[in-house]
Amino acid sequence: MAKQIRTVGVIGLGTMGAGIVEVFARGGLTVIGVESTEEFADRGRGILTRSMDRAVSRGKLDEAGRQEILDRITVTTEMGDLAPADLVVEAVPEVLELKHEVFGRLDGIVAEDAVLASNTSSLSITAIAAPTKHPERVIGVHFFNPAPVMQLVEVIHTLRTDQAVTDAVRDLVTGLGKRPVVVGDRAGFVANYLLFGYLNSALTMVEHGHVSREDLDTAMRVGAGLPMGPLTLMDLVGLDVCHHIGDVIYGHSRSPLHAPSSMLERMVVSGRLGRKSGRGFYSYEGPGGRDVVADELTPGEDAESAGIRTVAVVGDGTVAGELVARVEGAGYAVTHLTDASGDLSGVAAADLVIEAQEEDSAAEDGAAGRDVDELFAALGEAARSGAVLATVNTYSAVALAAISGRAEDTVVLRVHAPTGNGQVIEVGTTHTTSAATVAALRGFIRGLDAEPVVSRDRTGLVVDALLMTYLNDAVRMLDEGYATVEDIDTAIQFGLGYPMGPFAMIDHIGADEVLAVTEELFSGTGGFAQHLMPSPLLVEHVLLDRPFTQGASDD
Ligand code: 3HC
Repeated sequence: MAKQIRTVGVIGLGTMGAGIVEVFARGGLTVIGVESTEEFADRGRGILTRSMDRAVSRGKLDEAGRQEILDRITVTTEMGDLAPADLVVEAVPEVLELKHEVFGRLDGIVAEDAVLASNTSSLSITAIAAPTKHPERVIGVHFFNPAPVMQLVEVIHTLRTDQAVTDAVRDLVTGLGKRPVVVGDRAGFVANYLLFGYLNSALTMVEHGHVSREDLDTAMRVGAGLPMGPLTLMDLVGLDVCHHIGDVIYGHSRSPLHAPSSMLERMVVSGRLGRKSGRGFYSYEGPGGRDVVADELTPGEDAESAGIRTVAVVGDGTVAGELVARVEGAGYAVTHLTDASGDLSGVAAADLVIEAQEEDSAAEDGAAGRDVDELFAALGEAARSGAVLATVNTYSAVALAAISGRAEDTVVLRVHAPTGNGQVIEVGTTHTTSAATVAALRGFIRGLDAEPVVSRDRTGLVVDALLMTYLNDAVRMLDEGYATVEDIDTAIQFGLGYPMGPFAMIDHIGADEVLAVTEELFSGTGGFAQHLMPSPLLVEHVLLDRPFTQGASDD
C-alpha cells in the first residue's frame, strides 16, 4: 500500500488545520480543506489568506506565488469531496469519539490505499485507529504551532501501522522541507512529553507567587536562550489545549511533574484561553491578537529605581575582579575590598555590597577569604543603614539575612552566562525583602546591560530549577526507551525552536554540573519529590565520563 501522495485532505481548519493546509499547498500538493459549516470554512479561508498576505507584505512571496498556492486549495463543507485524497489529516477537536466518527466516515469515502492521519497532540493513535476498517493505514502526523514556521513533524506509528505507510509519510514530510521524527505511540510523543513537564513546573512557580509572569518568561527566554518564555508559549498554544495535553500525559505518567495545575484549570474555565480569546497569562489587543497590551499585572514605573550608585565588591579572586570591571565599566563608583578579613569600613559609603569571594577561598586557612557567616555579620555592622547586601555565591538569602540582621535588604544574585537572547542576573529574595531593595537591584542589573529576574530564593532560583529539571527529565525519557538521543534532540530543537536539544545541552553544560544541580534540587525537597531524583542514566554518564551526543565524543 501507500502510493505516491499528491492530493491531501485536511479536516478542521482552525489555527493548526489551516497552518497544515498552507504547508501542503506551499509544498506543491493539491489540498482539500474540509470544515463542518460555511462559517468555519470562511474562518479557515480567512486564516489562509491573511497568512499569504503577510508573506507578500514581508516580501517572502510575490503576488503570482500567492495566487498559485491559493489555487491549489479547495475549501469545502462536504466530506465526500475528499474522495481523491491520497492522504487525509484530521485536525478536529481532541475528542476520541469525534475522531472515530471522522475516520469511520473516511473509510467509506477515500480509496483503500489512502493514508489516514491524525494531528492529535494528546490522544493515542492506537486508540484512534482501533475501530477503523484498516488500522494499518492509520498514522499520527503531529505538526507544531505555528505549523508554517516550526520544522518538526512527529510521525507516530502504532503496532499495526504498515511500514510502507510510515515510510511514505516520512518521505512526504521531508519533501515539504520539514524534519520528521518517527516515534512510537506514547503519551505526549516526544516533544510534548518533555515540554509539558517543564511547563507544569513553570506554572507551579507562578501559582505559588514565587516569580512574576514577566520575570518567569524573561528567565527562560533570555536566561536559558529559549525562543519564548513558558507563559507566552502557553498563550500561543492555547490554555485549553495545554490543560488537555497535560491531563493526558499525567494520566499515563502519574508523575507529580505532570500533575494538573489547578490555576490552569481555573483560567480555562474562566475563558482565559490565551491569544485566541484575547486573554491568557497576558492580555492581547483582541481575540487572535499577537501583541501584548498592558493590564492590571503589568509592572508599574516604580518597579525599577536608580537607588544604587556606589557599589562595594568583597573578594580577591577572578569572579570579584570581573565583577569590579563590569560594574565600573557600567559607570558605577566601585570600592574593591580584596581582603575580606581586614578592615571593612570601605563599604560604609556603598548602596550595594556584593560578596564575591572564590567559593573555596573562604574555607582555606591563610587565604584572604573569610567565612561567609562571619563576613555577613560584619557587613551588617559596617554597611550603612538601607544598603543592600548580596552574594553571587550559592548561599541562602534567608540565612545571610538572619546573620546580617538586614532582613529587608539581603539577597542572593546569580549571574548567568549570556545566551543568544541576552543575559539574565537573578535576584533571590526572602519574604521580608523590601520593594525598595528589589526596585534598586532591578535598576542596577539593567545598568549592567543585563535583564533582572526576581524570585523567592528557592533551590536553583528560576533558570536552573526549570532547566535542570527538564534536562534530567530528558535523560529519564531516554532511559525509558521513548526515543533515541538524536530523535529527542531533533524534536526539541525543531519542534520548539530551542537553540539545541537537551542532550547537546547537557554535553555543553557538562553532565556533572547538571547532576550536581539536580542533586541539590532533589535534596532541597528533602528527597520527597521523586520526580526530581537524578536519573540513574545521568549518574552513569557522569561516572563513566561518557557524553550523550556523538558530536561531543568526537571533540
Ligand atoms: N503563524 C504563522 N507564522 C508566524 C506566526 C504564526 N502564529 N508567528 C510568527 N510567524 C512567522 C512570522 O511571520 C515570521 O515569518 P518570516 O520570517 O517568514 O517573516 C517568523 O514566523 C518569525 O516571526 P517573528 O519575527 O514575528 O517572531 P519570532 O522570531 O519571535 O518567532 C516564533 C516567532 C517562530 C513563534 C518563535 O518565537 C518560536 O519558535 N517560538 C516557539 C514556538 C513553539 O514552541 N511552538 C511549539 C509549541 S508546542 C506545539 O505546537 C505542540 C502542540 O501539540 C501543542
